[in-house]
Amino acid sequence: MKPIYSLEQYGKMRGLDIKIASDETPSLASLLDLTGKVAIVTGGARGLGFHVVYRLAEAGAKVMIVDIATDFAEDAVEFFTQRGADVGFVLADIRAQDQIERAVAATVDAYGQIDILVNCAGVMGIQPTLEATEDDWNVLLDVNARGNVFFCQAVARHMVERGIKGKIVNVASNAVEPSASDWFANELGYVASKAGLIKASEVLAAALAEHGIVVTVVNPGGMRTPGAFLMKRDDRVTAKPSSSRPPLAMNPDAVGRVVFALATGLADFATGAVLNVDGGSSLGARV
Ligand SMILES: NC(=O)c1ccc[n+]([C@@H]2O[C@H](COP(=O)([O-])OP(=O)(O)OC[C@H]3O[C@@H](n4cnc5c(N)ncnc54)[C@H](O)[C@@H]3O)[C@@H](O)[C@H]2O)c1
Repeated sequence: MKPIYSLEQYGKMRGLDIKIASDETPSLASLLDLTGKVAIVTGGARGLGFHVVYRLAEAGAKVMIVDIATDFAEDAVEFFTQRGADVGFVLADIRAQDQIERAVAATVDAYGQIDILVNCAGVMGIQPTLEATEDDWNVLLDVNARGNVFFCQAVARHMVERGIKGKIVNVASNAVEPSASDWFANELGYVASKAGLIKASEVLAAALAEHGIVVTVVNPGGMRTPGAFLMKRDDRVTAKPSSSRPPLAMNPDAVGRVVFALATGLADFATGAVLNVDGGSSLGARV
């Protein structure tokens, strides 16, 4: 589709002379097209990450899944390859800096560069707050906060070195909103890890803005994913969910679509945005 107007024409409408930086408004199709782009999706083997890989690949990106779940990742690669997408897998635990570096290098070796990073790797955990241990805390903070943040740093260094005006999307959680989660009072480490990821993303957004790198955050609500189904809830958690909301009511593609939009040219000016994608549950809506 051809651009429908030039911004220069727009700026001169009705006798005005508004200076606008770009002289052409890109077509919607070109903003959404990821042909020639390379993405890493951490945690892309399953769950929300799998749905993000799906949308990025559908738009033409080559995608590298970085994950520790080899079995799920192999299934995912087979699924996407059968559909004609170019999706690879690197086994790496994002808690280890050397494995982050290796995953980034392997992606550059395989695909040439990295334009998009989506951090979906995460772990969930619920414990009674007064019983939560340092180990409970460490596993949540190590993956959800430290691992994701240092993955951002490694990819951002690559983007800055190469002058790539890339996109980084971090998946946090609407669990940071007390009204959104029935288990807020029992999510000490989880909420701290996600709040840390959100604030660190804002710092990264501020630091990377001068390089044209856009950093955003999506806060999903409860989703049907393997992680949510497999999550062991500590038996000592006695608090009952306060609502009659059916748990895990939502389709993870609802998150995949929004993450996709933030990874495209639609989000060129959206750096620092933190977006709830939870059907309004952080506002008290029951979906
Ligand atoms: N499912 C939900 O209801 C929900 C709601 C809000 C936020 N989230 C967040 O979305 C993200 C994805 O969750 P999901 O529900 O798809 O869970 P999931 O367990 O199905 O998927 C998470 C993926 O991350 C990978 N992973 C975990 N630790 C890793 C590590 N150290 N290194 C590399 N990969 C690792 C897992 O192997 C898995 O493939 C998480 O950050 C989670 O906190 C999920």
